[in-house]
Amino acid sequence: MDQREAWDRFYARREKNGSPHPFDWFFGYKEISTLLGSVLRGLPPGRARVLDVGCGTSSLGLELYQRSSVQLHVSCLDFSSAAIQCLTRMLQDSPPPCHPLSKLECHLGDATELSRLFTLGSFHLLLDKGTCDSVLRGCPQRARRLVSECLRVLRPEGCLIQISDEDPDARVPFLETAGGANINIGEIARVNGISYYAYTLCPKASDPVLT
Ligand SMILES: C[S@@+](CC[C@H](N)C(=O)[O-])C[C@H]1O[C@@H](n2cnc3c(N)ncnc32)[C@H](O)[C@@H]1O
Repeated sequence: MDQREAWDRFYARREKNGSPHPFDWFFGYKEISTLLGSVLRGLPPGRARVLDVGCGTSSLGLELYQRSSVQLHVSCLDFSSAAIQCLTRMLQDSPPPCHPLSKLECHLGDATELSRLFTLGSFHLLLDKGTCDSVLRGCPQRARRLVSECLRVLRPEGCLIQISDEDPDARVPFLETAGGANINIGEIARVNGISYYAYTLCPKASDPVLT
C-alpha cells in the first residue's frame, strides 16, 4: 500500500470513531523501548534528533518523546494529512515530556523525498515501523528510494531501525541493494507464531554527506 489516498481514508475512518488515539502497526512503543533505550544511551551527550518515517498515528514517536530522560528532538513524518492532523491533536492532549527541553514536530511529507525536507546528515536515529513494508508491496523501486533517502539524512554515526515482519532472507538483500551497511538483525517479538524483526543499518562509510 503506497497510495496516499488509501492511507488518508484509513486514518479518516479511524478518527470518525471517536477522539484521537494511537493506532499501531504490529505493536506499540513498549515492545521497542529497550532497543531504543540502548541506542539512545550510546549517543554523545546533547540533544538527539530522531525521525519516525511514515509515523501514521503510532504511539512510537509520541511515547519516545514523552518518556525519554535524554533530550530529544523528535520529528514524525507521514504523507497522509489525516494521520498528521490526528497525531497533532494527540500531541496537544499529551502530558509534557520527561525532559523539559524535548520537542516533537509533525511533518506532512513524502518519505521518498526526505533530502528535500531535512538537512543531509542531521538525524541520529531514524525509525521505520511498517512503512518500508507498505511501500515495498506497492513499488520496490520506491521502497529502495525510501531507504536511500533515510540513509542520506542520517548522521554518519547514526542508524536506521526498520521494524518488519519480513524474513531476513528477503529483507537483507533488499537493504543491501538500497545502500545499507552493517546490517544487524534482531527478533524483537513473536506474536501468534509471527516473528517481528528489528533491522538496524547505517550509511556506508564512503557515502558523502553533502549539504
Ligand atoms: C503500515 S503503516 C505504519 C504506520 C506507523 N509507522 C505504525 O507503526 O503504526 C505505513 C505508514 O506509512 C505511511 N506512508 C506510506 N508511504 C509513505 C511515503 N511515501 N511517505 C510518507 N509516509 C508514507 C502511510 O501513510 C502509513 O501511515
